[in-house]
Amino acid sequence: MSDGSNADGELARELFNGFIGSHVLYALITTGVLDQLAEREGAAVVGELARRGDCSLRLLSALLKAANRLGIVRYRPQGDTVELTAGGRQAHRLRGYFTASVGGFGDVFRNLDALALGREKFGESIDQDGRLTAVGCAQNWSFQQAIFDRATERIDYRHVLDLGCGAGVRLVHLLRRNPHARGTGIDRSPEACALARDRAHVMGVGDRVTIVQADVGEIVTGPDGCPGLLDVDLATSYFVLHHFMQSRAGGVDFLKSLAVALPGCDHFVFADGFAEPEEARGSPPLFTLAYELFHEFTDVALVTHRRQCELFEQAGYLVEQDLGFGHPLEHLFVLRRS
Ligand SMILES: C[S@@+](CC[C@H](N)C(=O)[O-])C[C@H]1O[C@@H](n2cnc3c(N)ncnc32)[C@H](O)[C@@H]1O
Repeated sequence: MSDGSNADGELARELFNGFIGSHVLYALITTGVLDQLAEREGAAVVGELARRGDCSLRLLSALLKAANRLGIVRYRPQGDTVELTAGGRQAHRLRGYFTASVGGFGDVFRNLDALALGREKFGESIDQDGRLTAVGCAQNWSFQQAIFDRATERIDYRHVLDLGCGAGVRLVHLLRRNPHARGTGIDRSPEACALARDRAHVMGVGDRVTIVQADVGEIVTGPDGCPGLLDVDLATSYFVLHHFMQSRAGGVDFLKSLAVALPGCDHFVFADGFAEPEEARGSPPLFTLAYELFHEFTDVALVTHRRQCELFEQAGYLVEQDLGFGHPLEHLFVLRRS
């Protein structure tokens, strides 16, 4: 992105084409066309893509023409064929960030003005799309899984609790990895819970999974705690912890309550995204601007990676591993009680 000093309107052009490009890519993701293109080595016939994706051929061609101009695909209208460019393949790898930002956070971004003016209120007239946020996060698993598997291969577990389980991709993965384990997933979004139940069923672990629609904060810090979870020996949470780290919602207190609520838990595996430290702010990496702006508008104060490490230490957790999770501001932690 340019620095704004270019007098010929370069910044405006980039902003404008970025807006259109994100929407074009999002349409290719949600119609399944991007996946179809990524699955093959060579070119695909557009008519066949339209048939398989149940799309209008005319409108899919228009979409691909725009994607061609944006550098996502190489579209040859003469032969009616299309293939992903190298940049398009990268965009496919990172598609989860587009699904979450254009789809999951889309209502907030379309209403920044109305929210700022107080005409709309987040959580009332404007909301996050729980299904698309969960789907976007699940799509990122494709580049996170190898890091996760290496970090957790030595951990033994019989009962996994996943806090904010979303579409259940990571919980199901742990249960397929260990056929003797059972799992509990908690998520406040009914759409995410439905996705997680379906996935567990389809992947053959439905009889070992319980998905509970509830607020993690209420379950962990509530008066009755987690009576059904006393034998949990592995607690996981991916991209949810930030909801509990600001002082208003808990921070150290939340982490301490979690350890108390799960007395049999040996390992805690947490992944999350962090705010860019003030001193390191430059051109933001992919997704960071969306992540920070969305949370400012929804009143969730993000912490930096350094602050998160301090909070773990103050709450009595020992950081055994701290790994980059495929994005400069996203980390995977393996923790124990100290
Ligand atoms: C960014 S998504 C991550 C989903 C999943 N952990 C993953 O990594 O694929 C965040 C999830 O946390 C859930 N969530 C956020 N705050 C929550 C809370 N207080 N209690 C329960 N679930 C919550 C959201 O509904 C959403 O499904």
